[in-house]
Amino acid sequence: MIIAVDGPAASGKGTIARSLARHYGLPYLDTGLLYRAVAENVRRMELNPEIEADAVAACDFEDALLDDPVLRTDDVGKMASIASVHPLVRAALFHRQRRFANQPGGAVLDGRDIGTVIAPEADAKLFVRATPTIRAKRRHAELRDNGSSVSLDKVLADIRARDLRDSTRSAAPLVAANDAALLDTSFLSIEASLQRAIELVDRQVALR
Ligand code: DC
Repeated sequence: MIIAVDGPAASGKGTIARSLARHYGLPYLDTGLLYRAVAENVRRMELNPEIEADAVAACDFEDALLDDPVLRTDDVGKMASIASVHPLVRAALFHRQRRFANQPGGAVLDGRDIGTVIAPEADAKLFVRATPTIRAKRRHAELRDNGSSVSLDKVLADIRARDLRDSTRSAAPLVAANDAALLDTSFLSIEASLQRAIELVDRQVALR
């Protein structure tokens, strides 16, 4: 069983995808981490993520980089969004994601284009969303807990900029697949979101 979970930054898709993987006993891949690794590698190589050839040169990163906590920072997330617009970067990361999706028994993947490009044949697809303001508040609280003093306005502006870039790029933009179930987490607790996600997956699988 392949489960595709897509959605914008800070929508809760990571938490949901990880929990689904645990619930169904499937391996899980956070595909955003791959783009984040490219971004961090671009920085280490002192290249420019806006230049396609530079970003492509950074796609050959060491797997150990995926464990570096620096990948989780907002700066790297923003650079990842910039590097991910290039079709050749997406192509360089495609097979790795496909292989993960195709393993015997299946897998859960989360990202922006899993249900549309990476695994269009997925058995269940969720598109997780929440209003920009609510996503900004969640991310702001998380950053504050980690000792950052960044303002809510700045976090909201960053989220809007990232949404715009991710959804207007021509290669594999952030968009819900036609057959994805929408899950709006704006007014749901984490527990209620997880419960709903399981119901939606079970329903899609039963209808196949
Ligand atoms: O999900 P995330 O915040 O870790 O993703 C970081 C950036 O990587 C995101 O802004 C766009 C890009 N990305 C992508 O283009 N396609 C994916 N499947 C996952 C992430």
